[in-house]
Order: sequence, then structure tokens, then C-alpha cells
Amino acid sequence: MERPCLSRRHALLLPASAAGLGGLAACAPEDQGFGTAEPLRAEEGSIPLADVPENASTLVNFGGQQPFVLLVRGTGEDVSAYSGYCTHNGCALRQEETELDCPCHGSRFDATSGEVLVGPATRHLPSVEIVVEGDQIRRAS
Ligand code: FES
Repeated sequence: MERPCLSRRHALLLPASAAGLGGLAACAPEDQGFGTAEPLRAEEGSIPLADVPENASTLVNFGGQQPFVLLVRGTGEDVSAYSGYCTHNGCALRQEETELDCPCHGSRFDATSGEVLVGPATRHLPSVEIVVEGDQIRRAS
């Protein structure tokens, strides 16, 4: 299985520890892979770390209320998370490569930072607390 690759543009948006020079060095300029088109489903409220690609962003459905979370993984256990819901009016976002698109009114967000790229949304995606325990990622609380 080919490892997803982070574009140089989006690597610049990640903290240095997440971008990892080793990960960037392995990326060919033509590589476009980045997360998945369909959200991953986290059974039992957690997801194996191995199922979340390194140097990429991946939407995950953790189940229950507010289930969609964008995981931004650098290397190893370096994972941060953002809400997978539009800040305009709360619609669930869809991932399209390096962006998250809102099907309701067309807002777009950067999939590495949660920044608004196109309105009507004006607020970035809020951070979500997650915990990496052993080989699992789960939401905090
Ligand atoms: Fe996303 Fe309106 S709910 S743009």
C-alpha cells in the first residue's frame, strides 16, 4: 500500500514536528494522495493508529454525537484533530484531497489546519481533544 504524501504547500501549514523532513523527502512532486474520500469508521469509539495515514489528514467517524473528526497526523503519535462540521451552520464536511468541502452552502476548509478557504463560513474549524493510547486514537472525554 502506497503511503499518502503531503504537498509542500500543506506541509508548511503543519508544525515542524508533524511535517517531518523524512516524510517530505519521501514524497515525489507528483504525489497527490491525501487522506481518504470516505470517512474512516472508528468502532467502539477508537481507531487503530495504523489505520490513519501519516503525513495526511483523514476524516474519521467516531460514532455517537458529533462523530466526524478530522485527524491530522504527522509521523508516529503526532496527531491533532479538528471538528468535521462546518462552522457556518453545522453541516458534516466532505474531504476532497487537501480540502474539506461543505455540501450545504459551499464553504471550504484547509484539511491540514482547519482554516477557512472559502465562505460563507468565517471561523476556522475548532480543535478537538484526542488521546493516543498505545495503538489506538480516541476522543478525549
Ligand atoms: Fe457549511 Fe453553510 S453550513 S457553508
